[in-house]
Amino acid sequence: AKNYKIAVLAGDGIGPEVMCEALRVLEALSLRYGFGVTLSEQYVGGAGIDHAGKALPDETLRACEAADAILFGSVGGPKWENLPPNEQPERGALLPLRKHFGLYANLRPGICLPALTHASPVKNELIEGGFDILCVRELTGGLYFGQPRYRKEIDGEDTAVDTLVYRKSEIERIARVAFEAARGRRNLLTSVDKANVLTSSILWRETILEVAKDYPEVEVRHMYVDNAAMQLVRNPQQFDVLVTENLFGDILSDEMAMICGSLGMLPSASLCQGSKDNGLFFGMYEPSGGSAPDIAGKGIANPIAQILSLGMLLRYSLGETAAANDIDRAVRRVIDLGYRTGDLATGAPNEIRVNTAAMGDAIIAA
Ligand code: NAD
Ligand code: IPM
Ligand code: MN
Repeated sequence: AKNYKIAVLAGDGIGPEVMCEALRVLEALSLRYGFGVTLSEQYVGGAGIDHAGKALPDETLRACEAADAILFGSVGGPKWENLPPNEQPERGALLPLRKHFGLYANLRPGICLPALTHASPVKNELIEGGFDILCVRELTGGLYFGQPRYRKEIDGEDTAVDTLVYRKSEIERIARVAFEAARGRRNLLTSVDKANVLTSSILWRETILEVAKDYPEVEVRHMYVDNAAMQLVRNPQQFDVLVTENLFGDILSDEMAMICGSLGMLPSASLCQGSKDNGLFFGMYEPSGGSAPDIAGKGIANPIAQILSLGMLLRYSLGETAAANDIDRAVRRVIDLGYRTGDLATGAPNEIRVNTAAMGDAIIAA
């Protein structure tokens, strides 16, 4: 029988709480479909700092290198915010992991289930029947990694510099991921940039147009990022696949998550260049939201983003399609049945209010 190695990095805040539910789901699926899993649970982020002296301990990185895929929770929190920037959980662990494994393609599927339109802050007549947007975010370039990056006294004044760099090849490869995705969906790609101001966006737009020649069946629209932020709340149903650079994608994906009902529903897959021979990818899978310090430790976080991230792992890194489909179906079903964690609750009479563990139970049962 098949046996998969998964590095499990739960991290901080709600990370371990939602990870616990995802691992229970994984266990249920491994029994149902008869595949084995060997988990390597490792410290990362604040937990890495506290237990092993740094955000990304060597042992954690080695476990990730030895794994078929990484299931990541979330990192960061007030406890570590005063450390030097490069030692903090985000810059010391999460970004280095993305860079180390070349995980340039971040897929964030924003699905507003019909039963969740009431949890969306968008007027319901605008989103009747729900909607389905795939945000393709470039993840290893742009302001997050550009050099130079420094802070020093310039002309007697404390000055900080970040650099926004994109090489053409970096834009081209993320564009291909987005076009491929659009081809399997509604054949509509919206590329988001700021080409009226940023030189990197001019290159972005030109490169998207070049790659578009290989995908004549896909309609391409260009949209400035400020307008895109507005259009998302005005008429989300106009979007199919969105492709954008690192920071724009970070911001727009949180907005997209909320108009779908909650940040606690949005999973993500971060994939690297080129599939393996069998068509599968190495990747890291994590909720798009963070460690949620405001609700951590209470057992009330929504585990669905973590569980859907596990589903993406099963689909893209392990090829366990039936198990991945089960997760998507089970999540839809519990939402249809009315199960709601606090972030999704609207007070409607048919809602069944649940905590993290009870949502996990409901999904496993479904
Ligand atoms: P956050 O995403 O942690 O929380 C924003 C809001 O969304 C909070 O009100 C939170 O309670 C809510 N929320 C998020 N996930 C939820 C869930 N599963 N269920 C219910 N509610 C949920 O963003 P923040 O507060 O800006 O950041 C907190 C920390 O998390 C920071 O240290 C930040 O750097 C870090 N962060 C980490 C990741 C990651 O590890 N991938 C992602 C984003 C933020
Ligand atoms: C995300 C997070 C990270 C990002 C932070 C924690 C570095 O917000 O995955 O969306 O900005 O990419
Ligand atoms: Mn983010």
